[in-house]
Amino acid sequence: MRENGDAIMALVKIREILDGRHENKHVSVRGWVYRKREGKDVIFLVVRDSTGVVQCTVKKDCPGWSNAECLTIESSLMLEGTVRPDQRAPGGQEISAENVEIIGLAEIFPISKDKSEEFLRDKRHLWLRSRRMSLIMKVRGHVMDYAREYFAKEGFTEVSPPMFISAACEGGSTLFGLKYFDQSLYLTQSSQLYLEILIYSLENVFCIAPSFRAEKSRTIRHLTEYWHIEGEWPFADMSDLIRFEEGLLTHICQQTAKNCRQELEELGADTAKLAAVTTPFPRMTYTEAMERLAAKGSKLKWGDDLGYEDEKLLADDVGKPFFIYDYPTAIKAFYCKTYRDRPEVAMSTDMLVPRIGEISTGGSREDDKEILIKRIKEMGMNPEDYDWYLDLRRYGTVPHVGFGMGLERVLTWMLDLENIMDSIPFPRTTRRFYP
Ligand code: 4AD
Ligand code: MG
Repeated sequence: MRENGDAIMALVKIREILDGRHENKHVSVRGWVYRKREGKDVIFLVVRDSTGVVQCTVKKDCPGWSNAECLTIESSLMLEGTVRPDQRAPGGQEISAENVEIIGLAEIFPISKDKSEEFLRDKRHLWLRSRRMSLIMKVRGHVMDYAREYFAKEGFTEVSPPMFISAACEGGSTLFGLKYFDQSLYLTQSSQLYLEILIYSLENVFCIAPSFRAEKSRTIRHLTEYWHIEGEWPFADMSDLIRFEEGLLTHICQQTAKNCRQELEELGADTAKLAAVTTPFPRMTYTEAMERLAAKGSKLKWGDDLGYEDEKLLADDVGKPFFIYDYPTAIKAFYCKTYRDRPEVAMSTDMLVPRIGEISTGGSREDDKEILIKRIKEMGMNPEDYDWYLDLRRYGTVPHVGFGMGLERVLTWMLDLENIMDSIPFPRTTRRFYP
């Protein structure tokens, strides 16, 4: 490798070349062999880095010819050459190589076009290098940035709740138990109860952290480990909550449509759908949702939980993100605040989107200690297990709201992914935990 300043200056990212910033300039790129085609006197290498792919031509009289001949798919390399505009090259620019250095020669790469989805998931550690997976992961990173941006703009502090916990947040049926030295603990299902602790000092708080669900159902929207965008804040009510949540999703969609145009296009995602997300979102009560379903022949009765099919039916009808609120208390978690004059109705709201159904749940939290104890008992749980949580109602209780939004469900909807498994680098399901 050269040590003079010029060579360092010329080391560029492929995106800059595709943007036409280095036309007729001498550059070097570092990356991996994405494709290779050999002719008698010329070798075409398509090289990828984290920013894009560019075609490079190596001619027989180039000093890098013999190295180029050796290169296999997914070998890492450094290539020097001159950027030339070429309409036949994907991206309209190519590098005419002057030198090729092999960094790491790859063995025969096991992934090719004809492989099954299952095979690709077994080889996830290699499949993540594919163009499609890289683009999805890039957008995922941006979506996390946009969420943080919105929380910051609204004066929220990011906090770090624990993943090992001693009492359930969302009921026992999806709780992962684990041996913790000589004790029994659980993996967290939601950071909500810990965020509730932190509002007493920091007021508006959020986290983006893993949640775990021992979820046996194998659907396009369930993982056993997912990333949860959760917010919690005091002195607020249901309309503050709904306004915040729709603002958050709108910010994420607008920023993605604006800044990830290239990625969306290459992924075949619907940029217009994202750009069209604006506030306010449509909203309907649970009772209205039941009436709509009844009109479609549903046999559900008031008090029944909505299943995936019911949610999809409603969401496909609305055609964009919307809220259902005022659910029956009996189908919601113990911490949900109820209307004082209608205790059978909980101040709880779900956000739904077409094809996926629910992407978030939020609501007002019960701030009255006695009602909370009663609710915990009604759910068959032991108030002693929630002693610290009850302390929050003993010392300076305050009306407060919060929500949790599943990052992967949001991405699956945003990018029109067939399965939630493609929205996370290392999906965990009942059957999948390798690599
Ligand atoms: O509706 P859930 O269970 O609500 C809670 O956990 C609340 N404590 C959140 C809060 O108020 N802070 O989960 C919230 C969201 C769901 O709407 C869904 O988007 C996602 O988490 N989610 C899952 N995502 C992928 N796989 C699963 N198995 C999921 N379970 C829930
Ligand atoms: Mg929910």
